[in-house]
Amino acid sequence: MRKLLTGLQPSGALHIGNYFGALKPFADMYGEYESYLMVADYHALTTLKNPEELRKNILDIVRDYVAAGIDPKKLVIFQQSQVPEHTELTWVLNTLVTMSFLELAHAYKDKEARGLETNVGLFDYPILMASDILLYDTDIVPVGQDQRQHLEYTRDIAGKFNNAYGETFKLPTAQILENVAIVPGTDGKKMSKSYRNTIPLFGTKAELVKSIMSIVTDSKGDQPENVYEIHKLFRSESDLAPLYDANKGGYKALKDALIADIEAIVGPMREKRASISDEEVRRILKEGSEKARETASVKMKEVREKIGVSLQ
Ligand code: ADP
Ligand code: TRP
Repeated sequence: MRKLLTGLQPSGALHIGNYFGALKPFADMYGEYESYLMVADYHALTTLKNPEELRKNILDIVRDYVAAGIDPKKLVIFQQSQVPEHTELTWVLNTLVTMSFLELAHAYKDKEARGLETNVGLFDYPILMASDILLYDTDIVPVGQDQRQHLEYTRDIAGKFNNAYGETFKLPTAQILENVAIVPGTDGKKMSKSYRNTIPLFGTKAELVKSIMSIVTDSKGDQPENVYEIHKLFRSESDLAPLYDANKGGYKALKDALIADIEAIVGPMREKRASISDEEVRRILKEGSEKARETASVKMKEVREKIGVSLQ
């Protein structure tokens, strides 16, 4: 059976960009594969240095996955930090990759350009991500458009290792849903936890209203583009046409309609989410991490043998 793996950083509350770019595509397809869903907690540590918050985010993100319709019995949900083979492989791959190759990474360059701290972990982020993927012989990685380069890096790095030590890693393919590739935030730029322009997926109704009301309503013609771009994720464009025609310039009415459409989809998920206890999440993660480790340790053993650190 083909293998599918994706990861989400527990670096803050999930937003609708995460939902349409990663979670929903994953929920729609994971049943057809041997699937792995990873909480990328060591990736989150590159930007989040608050233990309380990190712990809370890890539990919350698993609850989010399950509330979004993912059945923990049908896949492996695991925590990156609990499978030490990820960081171990990262070190090995570090020794094959040049500084200049990593300096070209968009995610790192963007953070640097915005004046954020560029710690060594952030610089090495693509290698940890490559390790996440390669340890499991992953075929398909469903991600948002912003992760395309990271997948190219992963394929490149796998190729480097295979050239140096012989065929070991499978080259994965990114699966990017083109029509929802980049969900815009309230300011019209890419929605991102780190840009403070998000519409929360499971916030309270009041938080939802506040974020929708803050959408910047620059318009091309007489349609508020930023509202429309988000609205069409929740309702078909043919459905929206009469509504937008009837409310030319009526931004408040359109925002109210958007709130109602989001509520219709998210409301039931929010209820389900509230019913999942911390204990249940801990159990899911513990079982999943043990299973993931069984697979990852076989691959890592092979790597140790190939590079010459296992003494026969
Ligand atoms: P953020 O940018 O908010 O920190 P992450 O980097 O944790 O989000 O991304 C988690 C997943 O959600 C990735 O697969 C990513 O591609 C996807 N994603 C994040 N933001 C968006 C967006 N605005 N549109 C579509 N997909 C997104
Ligand atoms: N870098 C991804 C993101 O920010 C998260 C991630 C970490 C990931 N490891 C992964 C995604 C492995 C897919 C596969 O969105």
